Formats: sequence, C-alpha cells, structure tokens
Amino acid sequence: MNNGQRTQFATRLGVIATTVGSAVGLGNIWRFPYEAGVHGGGAFLLIDLFFIFIIGVPVVCAEFIIGRRTGSNIRGAFRSLSPGKAWGWVSYIGITASILILSFYSVVAGWTLEYTIRSISGFGGATTPEGLHDQFDAYASSDIGPVVWTMIFLAVNYVILVRGVQKGIEKMSNILMPMLFVILIIFVANSLMMPGAAEGLKFLFMPDFSQVTPSVVLSAMGQAFFSLSLGLGCLITYSSYFTKGTPLVRTALITAGLDTFVAILAGVIIFPAVFTFGQEPAAGPKLVFEVLPSIFMHIGGGVFWSTLFFFLLFLASITSTISMAEISIAYFAEEFGMSRRASTALTIGIAMILGTLCALSFGSLNWLKVFGMTIFNFFDYFSSNILLPVGGMIISLFVGWVLDRGIIRGELINSHGRSTVSVSIIVFCLRWLAPLCIGLVFIFGLGIF
Ligand code: PHE
Repeated sequence: MNNGQRTQFATRLGVIATTVGSAVGLGNIWRFPYEAGVHGGGAFLLIDLFFIFIIGVPVVCAEFIIGRRTGSNIRGAFRSLSPGKAWGWVSYIGITASILILSFYSVVAGWTLEYTIRSISGFGGATTPEGLHDQFDAYASSDIGPVVWTMIFLAVNYVILVRGVQKGIEKMSNILMPMLFVILIIFVANSLMMPGAAEGLKFLFMPDFSQVTPSVVLSAMGQAFFSLSLGLGCLITYSSYFTKGTPLVRTALITAGLDTFVAILAGVIIFPAVFTFGQEPAAGPKLVFEVLPSIFMHIGGGVFWSTLFFFLLFLASITSTISMAEISIAYFAEEFGMSRRASTALTIGIAMILGTLCALSFGSLNWLKVFGMTIFNFFDYFSSNILLPVGGMIISLFVGWVLDRGIIRGELINSHGRSTVSVSIIVFCLRWLAPLCIGLVFIFGLGIF
C-alpha cells in the first residue's frame, strides 16, 4: 500500500529529529510550566506522566501503525484501512484541531520573536520583575505588534512547508533540536543556584493531591496529548513518511522520553525563578514570558542568553507548527488534488485569519468570550482538552478493535524485533485502558454526570 513515489524521511536521525521536533515545542517550554503552575505543580506533573507513558505511548504507536501502513494523509489512511466506514470521520476532528492549534500557537510563537528582539535591547533597561511583568502585559494587549509577528511567523512556515518534507522539515529539525537541548541544560544549572530553588523544586516535584480535582485531571490529559502532538493525526501524517525499517515502539518511547525530559527541564528552569523573584506560579499563559526575562536580567551575559533562548524557542515552535500544518496540507493535496503550493497557502491562510483573532483576544477582542473564555483560551482548551483526547480515543479503538492483528504485528515487529508480549500490552492498552481512562476523565472532568 505504501506508494513508491511518495517522499520519505531520509535518515534514521531524521525520523527521530522530526518526530521529536514535532513533540517538543511551546507545549513543553511555555504550556507545561503554565498549566502545572495553575494546577498545583507536583500532582499535575505526576498525572501528566501517567497519561504520557501509560495512555500516550500506545496511542502514539497506534498512529504510527496507521500512518506507516498506509503511507497516506489522515483521511486517505482511514479510507484504505476501513473503506466506507465511519471511522474516517476522525480525520475531520484532527484537521479542525490542527488548524485551531496552529492559530493560537502562532500567536505565542510571535511573542517569542518579539522577545528575541527585545532581548537584544535588554528589555529597554527594565530589570525589576514588576517592570518586566507590565512590559509583557502592555505588549500582549496591544493590537499591531502581536498580529504582525503572528503573520510573519506563519509566513516563515509557508516558506518552509512549500519546499516539502525532506528538504524543509527534516533538515531544520536535525540542526535545531540538539541546540535546544544544550541551552536548556545551561539554564537549568543556573536556576538550581537561585535562592528560591528549593521552593521551586518542591512545587514541581512534591505532589499535593489535595489540589487535584477532575478538571485538573482533564487538563493533565490535555497537556499529555498536546505535548505528544497526539490525537489529531499529526503522527499518522509524519509516520506516513517513515521507511519500513523505522522501529515504531522505540521511536514512540524515545519521543515520549525526550518530550517529558524537556518539559521537566522547563519546569526546573521556571519554578525556582518564580519563587526567587516572588512571582505567581498561577499566572497562566503569560508565566514564561514574565519570568524568563527576570532570570536573564540577573545572569552574566543575560542579553546574549536571552536572545539565544527566545530565538531557539521560536525555532522549536516552527518544528512543531510545520507538523500541525502538514496534516491539512497532505489532506488538501492528496484528497483534492491540489498542488503543494495551493494546499499550503490554504492552510496558512486560514491560520492567519484565526490567528489574528487569537492575537487580538489579549487586547481589543478580550471582551469576546466563548463559553466564558477568550478566543485564544477557547481554542487552546477545546482542542487540547477535548478534540485531541476524543481523536486519540477513536484512533485507539480503531487500532485495538478493528484493525487486523496481523497488520499491527507486522508494523510493530519489524527487522528490529519486538516481542509479542509488548504487542499484546499495546493492544490491551488500545482496546481497554486508553478508551476507558479517556472516557472516565471526560465524564468527571467535564461534569457530564
Ligand atoms: N507537541 C507540540 C508542542 O509541544 C504541539 C503540537 C500539538 C504539535 C499538536 C503538533 C500537533 O509544542
């Protein structure tokens, strides 16, 4: 079924770097600390880890199985595995989620660009946490700057995406991901020496279960799916470019492991600083942008580190957004016979319109509420906490119950060997554990009963 002319990732490193590149991004460095901060720290981390490794990894494998087996876009993949059945509807959930996420994510990526530039000027001389806090508020709530950066960010995505999978996506990821790791480790060392380090680490690692409510569990599940780029067919799309030799289970484990590692590093960087500078862990989406500059202003060579950091964060965002955009680009191109240029322009165009609304929702559109949330928060909440887990549940039911066991085994056990035990464990998770857990979290977290 794998059609010969379709492009594939060139190297083994390329497969890991692009998949990890998709997973690692603002979800780890911006979203994880702010969600953990809002939801009480340690307990949130523990529940997040449960969802990443017990539910997430098997569902990642399920997406890989579908993608590599069919070598097709998300809609085509379901059509070829289960012709004429309703399962393919999950593609529309995935495409919707990918466009919503691309829209709000690009706003935050735009902030990283603004902050790269501001770093160069030393944030206009602001040094106090309050000064930096006000500076971010003033910036995010202005109209022109955030919208312009969102557009520029999406335009850069367009340029990379029209060049296609191997030339654009793979090359970028190979260089950027290792750089990001190195710089994070340097910042961790710095944060661990701060006076508030002990308190920050306690907040992050000591679970306080009295804070856990069903909606905290729902958010932790959403964070796990978001961070793994899971449940929207992104990994189906990427694995459609894997070669037959790519070991799926190992790739899933490496991705989940590195993804978690980066999120924890980000937490270890942020929370000591939060407590050192007397800031509020529950500041929400602004957290990282208010806290990080305070760190940089207190270390030697701060201007250099800050500029480098925000620039790398911008690059890490790109390796994630190109993976989101690729879902609908492959879909439009393969299902409607559009050229790559046209399908890319369509995807990025929609994201530009919705991204503008998200950017303005911190400023002149902040009165506009959907279910009591700003547009930005609604896009984030609805896609991460609802669409991705629903998508993940359908994908796991499909692979667990419908897909022929021979196909699953054939994809999971390739030349690298995987014992049949791990195949049975994965199938058990997909049949029972993942759908039941996701279902229960919905019932309680959304207060359905
Ligand atoms: N996983 C990415 C991150 O953590 C975000 C993402 C979500 C990417 C969904 C692709 C699809 O930043």
